[in-house]
Order: sequence, then structure tokens, then C-alpha cells
Amino acid sequence: MKRLLLLMVVLLVAGSLSALAEHHQGPEEVAFETTIGTISFLHIKHQGKISDCTECHHKGIDEGKCTGCHTLDGVEGVPKAKRAFHGQCKGCHKNSSGPTRCKDCHIKD
Ligand code: HEC
Ligand code: HEC
Ligand code: HEC
Ligand code: HEC
Repeated sequence: MKRLLLLMVVLLVAGSLSALAEHHQGPEEVAFETTIGTISFLHIKHQGKISDCTECHHKGIDEGKCTGCHTLDGVEGVPKAKRAFHGQCKGCHKNSSGPTRCKDCHIKD
């Protein structure tokens, strides 16, 4: 009985720790809905290739989503989403093996 209880405690702690780690690492995949199709961004795959998180999360990972600041319509002093994402995503892809053609990112449903 004691052992069972201990096992349960260990499992509970392990479970909440991994949930915490998952939250900190962010989503596996992000879908951006746009007027010309949906972009499926494999966050986890990119994380595996780029070791420095702040290469993308330039304000730090605790600042939340890019789209919290970079909106489609734009806010004073913050570049619009299209400019920010195209700049960062395509900017890196041009120098690597990532896609740069519109229809390779914006997939029509
Ligand atoms: C290639 C660029 C890129 C890299 C590298 C990257 N991320 Fe992200 N991350 C993104 C994008 C894009 C989103 C989705 C933002 C949005 O929805 O506006 C995101 C989302 C997140 C979120 C969720 C934010 C929220 O509030 O919902 C977390 C947490 C996160 N990333 C952590 C990390 C960590 C930790 C690393 C490094 C191990 C990392 N990211 C590396 C681009 C990147
Ligand atoms: C807390 C708000 C905030 C968050 C979160 C944020 N940015 Fe930014 N970003 C800015 C501001 C403000 C600028 C203008 C320059 C500066 O102050 O750094 C900027 C500039 C940029 C630029 C340069 C654009 C240009 O052409 O001048 C890119 C690219 C960019 N952000 C991409 C991203 C991406 C991708 C994410 C998420 C992974 C992200 N940003 C998260 C606020 C934010
Ligand atoms: C710092 C470099 C870098 C940045 C920034 C980056 N990517 Fe990539 N991306 C890559 C590389 C390298 C590949 C090729 C991976 C492969 O095929 O093995 C790739 C592949 C892709 C692919 C092809 C399918 C896949 O996921 O493997 C898509 C779609 C993609 N990226 C979308 C994006 C989007 C959207 C952003 C911006 C939010 C982004 N990427 C930012 C480097 C980057
Ligand atoms: C590397 C991936 C990638 C490529 C290549 C790409 N885009 Fe995008 N595009 C994005 C991302 C990510 C967003 C931001 C979506 C968001 O903020 O929800 C975006 C936003 C947009 C928007 C604004 C979305 C809206 O609903 O108003 C338009 C328009 C657009 N792209 C057109 C294009 C065109 C045209 C091309 C080719 C010349 C292109 N994109 C190439 C990833 C890409």
C-alpha cells in the first residue's frame, strides 16, 4: 500500500514536470489561417534545427506569441504580421533548404 502511494506521488510529480516542460517548449505545430491558405508551421522540427530560441523569439520566449504583437493590421511601432513573418521565415529559408514559394507555405484547403 505504501509503495503504491509512493508510486502514485512519483507519477504525479513526473506528470506535472513534463507538462511544465511542454508548455515551456511551446506547441508542436502552429496553423496560421490566411486569406490565401493555411500555413502549417512545424515548430518542433524547427526547434530541432535551430538551437537558439531567440533567433525567432527575438523579444524572448516569455513575451508570448508573435501574433500577440505582430497583428495583420499592424499596431503603431510594431511591423505587421506579413512583414515580420515573411522577413523572418523567408529570410532564413533563402539561406537554407526551407520553402520560399508562396504556395509551399500558403496551402489552399
Ligand atoms: C524558426 C522560428 C522559431 C524557433 C527557432 C523557435 N520558435 Fe517558438 N514559436 C515560433 C512561432 C512562429 C510560434 C507561434 C507564434 C504565434 O502563434 O504567433 C512559436 C510559439 C512558441 C511558444 C508558444 C507561445 C504562446 O504563448 O502560445 C513557445 C512557448 C515557444 N514558441 C517556445 C520556444 C522555445 C523554448 C524555443 C527554443 C527551444 C523556440 N520556441 C524556438 C517560432 C520559433
Ligand atoms: C513583445 C512584442 C513582440 C513579440 C512577442 C515579437 N515581436 Fe517581432 N518585433 C516587435 C517590435 C516592437 C519590432 C520592431 C523592432 C524592435 O523593436 O525590435 C519587431 C520586429 C520584428 C522583425 C523585423 C521586422 C522588420 O522588417 O523591421 C521581425 C522579422 C520580427 N519582429 C519577427 C517576429 C517573430 C517571428 C516573432 C515570434 C517568434 C516576434 N517577432 C515576436 C515586437 C514583438
Ligand atoms: C533560422 C531558420 C528558419 C526560420 C527562421 C524558419 N525556418 Fe522554416 N525551415 C527551415 C529549414 C532549414 C527548413 C528545411 C527543413 C527540412 O526540410 O529538413 C524549413 C522548413 C520549413 C517548411 C517545410 C516543411 C517543414 O516544416 O519541414 C515550412 C512550411 C516552414 N519551414 C515554415 C516556416 C515558417 C512559417 C517560418 C516562420 C514562422 C519558418 N519556417 C521559419 C529554417 C527556418
Ligand atoms: C515561409 C513561408 C511563407 C512563404 C514562402 C510566404 N508566406 Fe505569406 N505568410 C506567411 C506567414 C507565417 C504569414 C502570417 C500569417 C499570420 O499572421 O496569421 C503570412 C502572411 C501573408 C499574407 C497576409 C495574410 C492575410 O490573411 O492577410 C499575405 C497576403 C501573404 N502572406 C502572401 C504571400 C505571398 C503572395 C507569397 C509569395 C510571394 C507568400 N505569402 C509567401 C508565410 C509565408
